[in-house]
Amino acid sequence: MTRNSIYAQRRATLAAQLGPGGIAIIPTALEQQRNRDSDFLFRHDSYFYYLTGFTEPKAWLAITGDGKSTLFCQPKDLEREIWDGIRLGPDVAPATLQLDAAYSVADIDAHLPKLLDNRSVVWYPFAIHKGLETRVDGWLNALRARVRFGAMVPEQQRDLCVLLDEMRLIKDTSEQDTMRRAAQISAKAHIRAMQLSARMLRDGKDVREFHLDAELLHEFRLQGSQYPAYGSIVAAGANACVLHYRADVAPVRSGDLVLIDAGCELDGYASDITRTFPANGKYTGPQRALYDLVLASQEAAAAATHAGARFTDPHEASVKVLAQGMLDTGLLDKNKVGSLDDVIEKRAYFQFYMHRTGHWLGMDVHDCGGYLEPSELGKTSERKDALTGETIINRPARILKPGMVLTIEPGIYVRPAPGVPEKFHNIGIRIEDDAIVTTKGCELISRGVPVKADEIEALMRG
Ligand code: GLY
Ligand code: MN
Ligand code: MN
Repeated sequence: MTRNSIYAQRRATLAAQLGPGGIAIIPTALEQQRNRDSDFLFRHDSYFYYLTGFTEPKAWLAITGDGKSTLFCQPKDLEREIWDGIRLGPDVAPATLQLDAAYSVADIDAHLPKLLDNRSVVWYPFAIHKGLETRVDGWLNALRARVRFGAMVPEQQRDLCVLLDEMRLIKDTSEQDTMRRAAQISAKAHIRAMQLSARMLRDGKDVREFHLDAELLHEFRLQGSQYPAYGSIVAAGANACVLHYRADVAPVRSGDLVLIDAGCELDGYASDITRTFPANGKYTGPQRALYDLVLASQEAAAAATHAGARFTDPHEASVKVLAQGMLDTGLLDKNKVGSLDDVIEKRAYFQFYMHRTGHWLGMDVHDCGGYLEPSELGKTSERKDALTGETIINRPARILKPGMVLTIEPGIYVRPAPGVPEKFHNIGIRIEDDAIVTTKGCELISRGVPVKADEIEALMRG
């Protein structure tokens, strides 16, 4: 299958779900001003790209229930193309992208009311695109003005994300291939950053977080990635305990751990890898103890990741290992927090592990897709959260299927606090890999960068 026929197939699959009187409207992303006359680098909307593969700005797609697709895109304009780049243009877009029609986006207000006429349901992504509801309202109003001429206005508006999120949740083989390549590039970038850190420290250089960030970016671009999939976290020492820390100017010192959470985006797909390594290439005793614990919890989570398991199973598996380890290492005091069951029940582990073990990964780093099992939404129970006292409605978590992609990313973050052994203070560790769910288990596609402590030390010596 060619790339364009993959997009055409996706549009057909979506059209079949719109109903015969349905129409879907999907804009690409808006261009965003950075400052004065500089824009942020344009990044297409993921839903729009999923259905078109088209990366130009100022574009819209309309799909009708009878399977017809219409694109609105920038018209050819020699002067603008000299400044901004070649445009595909509406004349050749239908043949190139396997669409039924294409028009200049300048004429969209004339075409959309006509496309909406005589349909019962208009679908568009809710709460994603600023101003989209207003545009749709405008087209519906333009159509209402023609009711006395026989126009029929859609009487329902529905959230298109509901359909597209389910489709995007299962990655087809071409998506999996792209994600494997993205993960391989990111893995190489992590290796380079680790080696640079050890090498610069060996040479007596003043190493900063931004040096390692530069190394990541260099490898991403060298291998053809368009940009990082999210803001890279390069956190030296205590900074690793700040979950959303960004690479900055802090010194990377011998004896520190460095946590790097970084992944490239390749052809629209994200990778998301975290490694935590000793800046100088050798873990200290306390660092190694906690590192091996986080790794054991990640292994337990990976073993719980397979078709038929629930999305929450890997989290529960990693929490069990981490909680036991917190008791064994003295991070948690048995005399205060009780047994393993108590630690889990009362969420005492939350002091050191306060995030979930994973999320969907795809075109967006925190990819779309519901975390509840759609076939079991009615099965509810209630419980009181042990830490906040809030009532929580439990619904069964999503059952994993082959082709779903998720991260597995347990961690431990030790902020100094009374009763916490000093040797562990300010250690922050996360290990994150990207997993494709398979029938029997999962494929960890990001293991091009080693994860075992001994292997990391070996590659940093090289
Ligand atoms: N890098 C974002 C995350 O790990 O979720
Ligand atoms: Mn992640
Ligand atoms: Mn991450």
